[in-house]
Amino acid sequence: MSQLAERYGPWAVITGASAGIGAEFARRVAERGINVVLVARRRNRLEALASTIEDMYRVDVRVAPADLSARNIVEVLRPALAEIEIGLLINCAGFGSSGPFLDMDPSVQESMLNLNCRAPMLLTHEIVQGMRERGRGGVIVVSSVNAFSSARGMTNYNATKSYDLLFAEGLAEELRPYGVDVQALCPGGTTTEFQQVAGLDPRKFGPLRRWVFSSPASVVATSLRALGGRVTVVPGFLNKLMVFAIRLLPRRIATRFLGLLMDRLSAGY
Ligand SMILES: NC(=O)c1ccc[n+]([C@@H]2O[C@H](COP(=O)([O-])OP(=O)(O)OC[C@H]3O[C@@H](n4cnc5c(N)ncnc54)[C@H](OP(=O)(O)O)[C@@H]3O)[C@@H](O)[C@H]2O)c1
Repeated sequence: MSQLAERYGPWAVITGASAGIGAEFARRVAERGINVVLVARRRNRLEALASTIEDMYRVDVRVAPADLSARNIVEVLRPALAEIEIGLLINCAGFGSSGPFLDMDPSVQESMLNLNCRAPMLLTHEIVQGMRERGRGGVIVVSSVNAFSSARGMTNYNATKSYDLLFAEGLAEELRPYGVDVQALCPGGTTTEFQQVAGLDPRKFGPLRRWVFSSPASVVATSLRALGGRVTVVPGFLNKLMVFAIRLLPRRIATRFLGLLMDRLSAGY
């Protein structure tokens, strides 16, 4: 049995498992002998990943296609979570959008709030009760380096990621006495479908792109290595440097500086 399985238990729930960082979490957790519940909307992607994981790692997989921004999300997911001991919850599903806030569709912004903030909060409340009773467990909330400052053009997204950061940091304090490890994972630019969904164009970084962007594999490896140690995890040297600089700067200046960066990255809003 792997250290991770021994420490946290037999099952993990991973949201956003149909792509990017979430799919990589699913593979790396399964590789360590932990059974997985895969949650996202695209059933075909989840089923394809489930069959790869079952074949490669010989673990049990449950596929739970669901829209996590739905109001009744906990009731929808309850059957997929029943009668298993969940020792690891990875709240990874999320999306961003770029552009002037007042020009955006408010219903899309509302579903971002529901997906990025409400769903991890409710799923944590539902699933972590069992971890607290058993005296062991792990929770990862995927936030972002964007959590450390606002930026024009990503006003609502950055606010949702700040929520995730503060939620995880507070929860870590509350759950430490019960043996439950909580991590706020704050990746910087990572090569996934995120940029396309958010209307950002990483090619605008030119040759700097390969220094600025990380792979999902390196983000997930850093996260799993750090779980149970540091609470706030910022993968990558450049990202750590940026977060350090943001913390030193007056907030108004940091917000303006990041706004300039967003102008550069935007695919043309
Ligand atoms: N990539 C980056 O540069 C970066 C940087 C910092 C933080 N992050 C954070 O990392 C997390 C994962 O993003 P990613 O980079 O892996 O992006 P991604 O490749 O676009 O994956 C997003 C995942 O979220 C799921 N999702 C989106 N809307 C959903 C909904 N309404 N209900 C259920 N699932 C939904 C998607 O699945 P379906 O479409 O199948 O539902 C997909 O599995 C996000 O929280 C993001 O904020 C990303």
